[in-house]
Amino acid sequence: MAEESVPVLRYEERPEGPVVVLLDQTRLPAQEVERVCTDVPGLVEAIQSLAVRGAPLLGLAGGYGVALAAARGFDVADAAEQLAQARPTAVNLAYGARRVQGAYEAAVRAGGAPEGAAAHALAEARTLHREDAEASDRIAGHGSALLEELVPGGGLRILTHCNTGSLVSGGKGTALGVVKAVHRAGELRRLWVDETRPLLQGARLTAYEAAKEGMAYSVLVDGAAGALFAAGEVDAVLVGADRIAADGSVANKVGTYPLAVLARYHGVPFLVVAPVTTVDLETGTGEGIEVEQRSGQEVTELLWARERGGAGPESGGGFSLAPVGAQAYNPAFDVTPSSLVTAIVTDQGVASPVTAESIAALCSASRTG
Ligand code: MRU
Repeated sequence: MAEESVPVLRYEERPEGPVVVLLDQTRLPAQEVERVCTDVPGLVEAIQSLAVRGAPLLGLAGGYGVALAAARGFDVADAAEQLAQARPTAVNLAYGARRVQGAYEAAVRAGGAPEGAAAHALAEARTLHREDAEASDRIAGHGSALLEELVPGGGLRILTHCNTGSLVSGGKGTALGVVKAVHRAGELRRLWVDETRPLLQGARLTAYEAAKEGMAYSVLVDGAAGALFAAGEVDAVLVGADRIAADGSVANKVGTYPLAVLARYHGVPFLVVAPVTTVDLETGTGEGIEVEQRSGQEVTELLWARERGGAGPESGGGFSLAPVGAQAYNPAFDVTPSSLVTAIVTDQGVASPVTAESIAALCSASRTG
Protein backbone atom coordinates (compact mmCIF):
# COMPACT_ATOMS: atom_id res chain seq x y z
CA MET A 1 0.00 0.00 0.00
CA ALA A 2 0.93 3.61 -0.35
CA GLU A 3 1.61 3.89 3.37
CA GLU A 4 4.10 1.01 3.09
CA SER A 5 6.01 2.58 0.19
CA VAL A 6 6.04 6.37 -0.11
CA PRO A 7 4.11 7.83 2.85
CA VAL A 8 1.27 10.07 1.70
CA LEU A 9 2.13 12.89 4.10
CA ARG A 10 4.81 13.51 6.70
CA TYR A 11 6.43 16.29 8.67
CA GLU A 12 10.20 16.15 8.65
CA GLU A 13 12.94 18.09 10.42
CA ARG A 14 15.75 18.77 7.92
CA PRO A 15 19.06 20.62 8.43
CA GLU A 16 17.68 23.54 6.39
CA GLY A 17 14.47 23.63 8.47
CA PRO A 18 11.23 21.68 8.86
CA VAL A 19 9.22 20.64 5.81
CA VAL A 20 5.96 18.90 4.94
CA VAL A 21 6.54 16.11 2.41
CA LEU A 22 3.65 14.87 0.25
CA LEU A 23 3.20 12.03 -2.18
CA ASP A 24 2.18 14.02 -5.27
CA GLN A 25 -1.16 12.45 -6.21
CA THR A 26 -1.29 14.22 -9.57
CA ARG A 27 1.56 11.94 -10.71
CA LEU A 28 -0.07 8.65 -9.72
CA PRO A 29 -0.30 5.92 -10.78
CA ALA A 30 2.64 6.36 -13.17
CA GLN A 31 5.10 7.80 -10.67
CA GLU A 32 5.46 7.87 -6.90
CA VAL A 33 7.01 11.31 -6.62
CA GLU A 34 7.38 13.37 -3.47
CA ARG A 35 6.69 17.08 -3.22
CA VAL A 36 8.45 19.04 -0.50
CA CYS A 37 6.67 22.09 0.98
CA THR A 38 8.82 24.52 2.92
CA ASP A 39 6.16 27.15 3.53
CA VAL A 40 2.42 27.73 3.66
CA PRO A 41 2.01 29.13 0.10
CA GLY A 42 3.70 25.97 -1.23
CA LEU A 43 1.32 23.80 0.73
CA VAL A 44 -1.70 25.84 -0.33
CA GLU A 45 -0.64 25.36 -3.96
CA ALA A 46 -0.29 21.60 -3.38
CA ILE A 47 -3.82 21.53 -1.91
CA GLN A 48 -5.36 23.56 -4.73
CA SER A 49 -3.64 21.56 -7.46
CA LEU A 50 -4.78 18.29 -5.78
CA ALA A 51 -1.26 17.01 -5.12
CA VAL A 52 -2.70 16.38 -1.66
CA ARG A 53 -6.46 15.80 -1.48
CA GLY A 54 -9.36 13.94 0.11
CA ALA A 55 -11.12 15.21 3.22
CA PRO A 56 -9.25 13.48 6.09
CA LEU A 57 -5.83 14.01 4.49
CA LEU A 58 -6.65 17.67 3.88
CA GLY A 59 -7.25 17.91 7.63
CA LEU A 60 -3.77 16.54 8.28
CA ALA A 61 -2.23 18.84 5.66
CA GLY A 62 -3.94 21.83 7.30
CA GLY A 63 -2.72 20.77 10.73
CA TYR A 64 0.89 20.12 9.70
CA GLY A 65 0.87 23.32 7.64
CA VAL A 66 0.07 25.38 10.74
CA ALA A 67 2.75 23.47 12.70
CA LEU A 68 5.22 24.25 9.89
CA ALA A 69 4.34 27.95 10.04
CA ALA A 70 4.84 27.96 13.81
CA ALA A 71 8.20 26.19 13.58
CA ARG A 72 9.46 28.53 10.85
CA GLY A 73 8.32 31.64 12.70
CA PHE A 74 5.59 32.67 10.24
CA ASP A 75 2.34 34.31 11.36
CA VAL A 76 0.34 31.35 12.63
CA ALA A 77 -3.11 32.97 12.48
CA ASP A 78 -2.49 34.04 8.88
CA ALA A 79 -1.21 30.56 7.98
CA ALA A 80 -4.29 28.91 9.50
CA GLU A 81 -6.55 31.29 7.58
CA GLN A 82 -4.78 30.66 4.24
CA LEU A 83 -4.89 26.90 4.74
CA ALA A 84 -8.51 26.81 5.94
CA GLN A 85 -9.55 28.79 2.84
CA ALA A 86 -7.47 26.84 0.32
CA ARG A 87 -10.48 24.72 -0.69
CA PRO A 88 -14.01 25.39 0.53
CA THR A 89 -15.91 22.10 0.66
CA ALA A 90 -14.01 19.55 2.78
CA VAL A 91 -14.65 20.69 6.34
CA ASN A 92 -11.71 18.64 7.65
CA LEU A 93 -9.24 21.12 6.13
CA ALA A 94 -10.42 24.03 8.29
CA TYR A 95 -10.89 21.66 11.24
CA GLY A 96 -7.24 20.51 11.10
CA ALA A 97 -5.81 23.99 10.58
CA ARG A 98 -7.93 25.59 13.34
CA ARG A 99 -7.31 22.80 15.82
CA VAL A 100 -3.53 23.12 15.55
CA GLN A 101 -3.81 26.92 15.61
CA GLY A 102 -5.81 26.54 18.84
CA ALA A 103 -3.09 24.38 20.40
CA TYR A 104 -0.42 26.92 19.42
CA GLU A 105 -2.38 29.90 20.77
CA ALA A 106 -3.19 28.11 24.03
CA ALA A 107 0.53 27.47 24.54
CA VAL A 108 1.31 31.13 23.82
CA ARG A 109 -1.40 32.28 26.25
CA ALA A 110 0.10 30.00 28.89
CA GLY A 111 3.26 32.07 28.59
CA GLY A 112 5.36 29.64 26.58
CA ALA A 113 8.26 30.69 24.37
CA PRO A 114 7.59 30.52 20.58
CA GLU A 115 9.67 27.32 20.25
CA GLY A 116 7.63 25.64 22.97
CA ALA A 117 4.36 26.77 21.38
CA ALA A 118 5.57 25.46 18.01
CA ALA A 119 6.31 22.11 19.65
CA HIS A 120 2.75 22.06 21.01
CA ALA A 121 1.41 22.78 17.53
CA LEU A 122 3.40 19.89 16.06
CA ALA A 123 2.30 17.55 18.83
CA GLU A 124 -1.34 18.45 18.09
CA ALA A 125 -0.85 17.78 14.37
CA ARG A 126 0.67 14.39 15.20
CA THR A 127 -2.26 13.63 17.53
CA LEU A 128 -4.67 14.47 14.72
CA HIS A 129 -2.73 12.11 12.45
CA ARG A 130 -2.86 9.26 14.98
CA GLU A 131 -6.56 9.85 15.67
CA ASP A 132 -7.31 9.69 11.96
CA ALA A 133 -5.50 6.35 11.63
CA GLU A 134 -7.43 4.98 14.62
CA ALA A 135 -10.70 6.33 13.21
CA SER A 136 -9.99 4.41 9.98
CA ASP A 137 -9.73 1.14 11.89
CA ARG A 138 -12.98 1.73 13.77
CA ILE A 139 -14.74 2.77 10.55
CA ALA A 140 -13.62 -0.46 8.86
CA GLY A 141 -15.08 -2.49 11.75
CA HIS A 142 -18.44 -0.68 11.75
CA GLY A 143 -18.69 -0.70 7.97
CA SER A 144 -17.97 -4.39 7.47
CA ALA A 145 -20.39 -5.36 10.27
CA LEU A 146 -23.12 -3.26 8.65
CA LEU A 147 -22.49 -4.81 5.23
CA GLU A 148 -22.82 -8.30 6.70
CA GLU A 149 -26.19 -7.26 8.08
CA LEU A 150 -27.45 -5.51 4.93
CA VAL A 151 -26.08 -7.94 2.35
CA PRO A 152 -25.59 -11.29 4.08
CA GLY A 153 -23.74 -14.13 2.41
CA GLY A 154 -20.51 -12.44 1.30
CA GLY A 155 -19.24 -12.44 -2.28
CA LEU A 156 -19.91 -8.70 -2.45
CA ARG A 157 -19.79 -6.58 -5.56
CA ILE A 158 -19.18 -3.07 -4.28
CA LEU A 159 -19.27 0.12 -6.33
CA THR A 160 -17.19 3.05 -5.10
CA HIS A 161 -16.62 6.55 -6.42
CA CYS A 162 -13.52 8.73 -6.33
CA ASN A 163 -10.72 7.76 -3.93
CA THR A 164 -11.16 7.15 -0.22
CA GLY A 165 -8.29 4.86 0.79
CA SER A 166 -4.79 5.17 2.26
CA LEU A 167 -4.14 8.08 -0.10
CA VAL A 168 -6.59 10.26 1.82
CA SER A 169 -6.01 9.18 5.38
CA GLY A 170 -3.54 8.57 8.16
CA GLY A 171 -4.71 4.93 8.04
CA LYS A 172 -6.48 2.59 5.62
CA GLY A 173 -9.11 5.14 4.61
CA THR A 174 -12.87 5.49 4.82
CA ALA A 175 -15.08 3.82 2.19
CA LEU A 176 -12.10 2.06 0.61
CA GLY A 177 -10.89 1.13 4.11
CA VAL A 178 -14.15 -0.79 4.57
CA VAL A 179 -13.71 -2.43 1.16
CA LYS A 180 -10.17 -3.49 2.19
CA ALA A 181 -11.56 -5.10 5.36
CA VAL A 182 -14.18 -6.95 3.30
CA HIS A 183 -11.48 -8.07 0.86
CA ARG A 184 -9.17 -9.27 3.65
CA ALA A 185 -12.06 -11.28 5.07
CA GLY A 186 -12.37 -13.00 1.68
CA GLU A 187 -15.82 -11.53 1.11
CA LEU A 188 -15.17 -9.21 -1.85
CA ARG A 189 -16.15 -10.57 -5.27
CA ARG A 190 -15.44 -7.36 -7.20
CA LEU A 191 -14.77 -3.69 -6.66
CA TRP A 192 -16.36 -1.47 -9.30
CA VAL A 193 -14.24 1.68 -9.59
CA ASP A 194 -15.95 4.84 -10.71
CA GLU A 195 -14.83 8.48 -11.25
CA THR A 196 -13.20 8.55 -14.58
CA ARG A 197 -13.87 12.26 -15.09
CA PRO A 198 -13.20 15.02 -14.44
CA LEU A 199 -10.17 13.94 -12.41
CA LEU A 200 -9.88 10.19 -12.93
CA GLN A 201 -9.51 9.71 -9.21
CA GLY A 202 -11.16 6.32 -9.43
CA ALA A 203 -9.17 5.19 -12.46
CA ARG A 204 -5.85 6.64 -11.30
CA LEU A 205 -5.98 6.41 -7.51
CA THR A 206 -8.53 3.84 -6.35
CA ALA A 207 -7.38 1.40 -9.02
CA TYR A 208 -3.78 2.00 -7.85
CA GLU A 209 -4.74 1.09 -4.29
CA ALA A 210 -6.97 -1.83 -5.33
CA ALA A 211 -4.18 -3.30 -7.46
CA LYS A 212 -1.71 -3.07 -4.58
CA GLU A 213 -4.23 -4.86 -2.34
CA GLY A 214 -4.70 -7.63 -4.89
CA MET A 215 -8.43 -7.00 -5.22
CA ALA A 216 -10.51 -8.06 -8.20
CA TYR A 217 -11.53 -4.68 -9.58
CA SER A 218 -12.84 -3.07 -12.76
CA VAL A 219 -12.76 0.59 -13.74
CA LEU A 220 -15.87 1.92 -15.44
CA VAL A 221 -16.69 5.28 -16.94
CA ASP A 222 -19.16 7.13 -14.77
CA GLY A 223 -21.83 6.95 -17.46
CA ALA A 224 -21.71 3.13 -17.37
CA ALA A 225 -22.93 2.93 -13.77
CA GLY A 226 -26.60 2.84 -14.81
CA ALA A 227 -26.05 -0.16 -17.06
CA LEU A 228 -24.15 -1.90 -14.26
CA PHE A 229 -27.03 -1.46 -11.81
CA ALA A 230 -29.54 -2.53 -14.45
CA ALA A 231 -27.54 -5.72 -14.98
CA GLY A 232 -27.89 -6.48 -11.24
CA GLU A 233 -24.13 -6.32 -10.74
CA VAL A 234 -24.00 -4.05 -7.65
CA ASP A 235 -24.70 -5.25 -4.10
CA ALA A 236 -23.75 -2.03 -2.28
CA VAL A 237 -22.37 1.45 -2.98
CA LEU A 238 -19.74 2.86 -0.62
CA VAL A 239 -18.55 6.44 -0.92
CA GLY A 240 -16.73 8.97 1.25
CA ALA A 241 -17.75 12.52 2.14
CA ASP A 242 -16.22 15.97 2.15
CA ARG A 243 -18.84 17.52 4.40
CA ILE A 244 -21.94 16.17 6.07
CA ALA A 245 -24.48 18.83 7.07
CA ALA A 246 -26.48 18.65 10.31
CA ASP A 247 -29.49 17.31 8.37
CA GLY A 248 -27.41 14.43 6.97
CA SER A 249 -26.93 15.86 3.46
CA VAL A 250 -23.63 14.68 2.03
CA ALA A 251 -21.21 16.60 -0.19
CA ASN A 252 -18.84 14.29 -2.04
CA LYS A 253 -17.02 14.10 -5.38
CA VAL A 254 -19.26 15.12 -8.28
CA GLY A 255 -21.04 12.04 -9.59
CA THR A 256 -21.97 10.74 -6.14
CA TYR A 257 -25.56 12.02 -6.23
CA PRO A 258 -26.46 10.20 -9.49
CA LEU A 259 -25.15 6.98 -7.92
CA ALA A 260 -27.41 7.52 -4.89
CA VAL A 261 -30.39 7.98 -7.21
CA LEU A 262 -29.49 4.81 -9.12
CA ALA A 263 -28.99 2.87 -5.89
CA ARG A 264 -32.43 3.92 -4.59
CA TYR A 265 -34.10 3.03 -7.91
CA HIS A 266 -32.48 -0.40 -7.91
CA GLY A 267 -32.96 -1.10 -4.19
CA VAL A 268 -29.21 -1.21 -3.45
CA PRO A 269 -27.80 0.04 -0.09
CA PHE A 270 -25.97 3.35 -0.42
CA LEU A 271 -23.47 3.90 2.40
CA VAL A 272 -21.52 7.07 3.15
CA VAL A 273 -18.35 6.39 5.12
CA ALA A 274 -16.46 9.17 6.90
CA PRO A 275 -14.86 10.11 10.20
CA VAL A 276 -17.16 12.08 12.47
CA THR A 277 -14.86 15.09 11.93
CA THR A 278 -16.47 15.37 8.47
CA VAL A 279 -19.82 16.22 10.08
CA ASP A 280 -20.31 19.98 10.25
CA LEU A 281 -23.16 20.79 12.63
CA GLU A 282 -22.75 24.48 11.80
CA THR A 283 -23.95 23.80 8.28
CA GLY A 284 -27.63 23.07 8.80
CA THR A 285 -28.63 21.74 5.40
CA GLY A 286 -27.18 20.64 2.08
CA GLU A 287 -27.93 24.03 0.52
CA GLY A 288 -25.55 25.58 3.02
CA ILE A 289 -22.57 23.57 1.75
CA GLU A 290 -20.26 25.58 -0.47
CA VAL A 291 -19.41 23.51 -3.52
CA GLU A 292 -16.01 24.26 -5.02
CA GLN A 293 -16.15 25.21 -8.71
CA ARG A 294 -12.94 24.23 -10.48
CA SER A 295 -11.30 25.25 -13.71
CA GLY A 296 -13.10 24.19 -16.89
CA GLN A 297 -9.74 23.01 -18.20
CA GLU A 298 -10.14 19.91 -16.03
CA VAL A 299 -13.06 19.03 -18.31
CA THR A 300 -11.88 20.28 -21.70
CA GLU A 301 -8.39 18.84 -21.29
CA LEU A 302 -6.81 15.78 -19.78
CA LEU A 303 -4.52 17.54 -17.33
CA TRP A 304 -2.98 14.30 -16.14
CA ALA A 305 -1.62 13.58 -19.62
CA ARG A 306 0.67 16.57 -20.12
CA GLU A 307 3.52 14.48 -21.39
CA ARG A 308 1.29 13.04 -24.13
CA GLY A 309 1.15 16.36 -26.01
CA GLY A 310 -1.88 17.93 -27.64
CA ALA A 311 -1.70 21.15 -25.65
CA GLY A 312 -2.09 24.41 -27.53
CA PRO A 313 -0.89 27.79 -26.29
CA GLU A 314 -4.35 28.60 -24.86
CA SER A 315 -4.58 25.35 -22.95
CA GLY A 316 -3.70 24.62 -19.33
CA GLY A 317 -0.90 22.34 -20.48
CA GLY A 318 -2.97 19.18 -20.78
CA PHE A 319 -4.16 17.00 -23.64
CA SER A 320 -6.98 18.92 -25.36
CA LEU A 321 -10.32 17.11 -25.64
CA ALA A 322 -12.58 19.97 -26.74
CA PRO A 323 -12.21 22.87 -29.16
CA VAL A 324 -10.14 25.76 -27.86
CA GLY A 325 -12.44 28.18 -26.04
CA ALA A 326 -15.09 25.56 -25.15
CA GLN A 327 -16.99 26.52 -21.98
CA ALA A 328 -17.26 23.94 -19.23
CA TYR A 329 -19.30 23.28 -16.08
CA ASN A 330 -17.05 21.79 -13.42
CA PRO A 331 -18.36 21.60 -9.86
CA ALA A 332 -15.94 19.47 -7.82
CA PHE A 333 -18.70 18.03 -5.63
CA ASP A 334 -22.42 17.39 -5.52
CA VAL A 335 -24.80 17.11 -2.59
CA THR A 336 -26.84 13.98 -1.87
CA PRO A 337 -29.90 14.40 0.35
CA SER A 338 -30.10 12.22 3.45
CA SER A 339 -33.26 10.56 2.13
CA LEU A 340 -31.11 8.73 -0.44
CA VAL A 341 -28.49 7.56 2.06
CA THR A 342 -29.07 4.16 3.70
CA ALA A 343 -26.52 4.81 6.45
CA ILE A 344 -23.64 7.04 7.42
CA VAL A 345 -20.81 4.96 8.87
CA THR A 346 -18.36 6.79 11.14
CA ASP A 347 -15.72 5.97 13.71
CA GLN A 348 -18.36 6.72 16.35
CA GLY A 349 -20.90 4.27 14.97
CA VAL A 350 -23.62 4.24 12.34
CA ALA A 351 -26.45 6.69 11.67
CA SER A 352 -29.37 4.87 10.06
CA PRO A 353 -31.90 6.12 9.20
CA VAL A 354 -30.00 9.29 8.47
CA THR A 355 -31.76 12.12 10.27
CA ALA A 356 -30.74 15.28 12.10
CA GLU A 357 -31.25 13.32 15.33
CA SER A 358 -29.10 10.33 14.39
CA ILE A 359 -26.34 12.69 13.16
CA ALA A 360 -26.48 14.71 16.38
CA ALA A 361 -26.24 11.49 18.41
CA LEU A 362 -23.03 10.49 16.60
CA CYS A 363 -21.51 13.88 17.27
CA SER A 364 -22.35 13.81 20.95
CA ALA A 365 -20.88 10.28 21.17
CA SER A 366 -17.64 11.72 19.76
CA ARG A 367 -17.57 14.53 22.33
CA THR A 368 -18.17 12.19 25.28
CA GLY A 369 -16.17 9.23 23.88
O1 MRU B 1 -11.39 16.74 -4.87
P1 MRU B 1 -10.95 15.67 -3.92
O2 MRU B 1 -10.11 14.63 -4.54
O3 MRU B 1 -10.30 16.23 -2.68
O4 MRU B 1 -12.30 14.98 -3.48
C1 MRU B 1 -12.23 13.84 -2.66
C2 MRU B 1 -13.53 13.22 -2.41
O5 MRU B 1 -14.57 13.65 -2.85
C3 MRU B 1 -13.53 12.06 -1.48
O6 MRU B 1 -14.51 11.15 -1.83
C4 MRU B 1 -13.81 12.58 -0.08
O7 MRU B 1 -12.89 13.60 0.27
C5 MRU B 1 -13.74 11.52 0.91
S1 MRU B 1 -12.09 11.01 1.20
C6 MRU B 1 -12.19 9.86 2.41
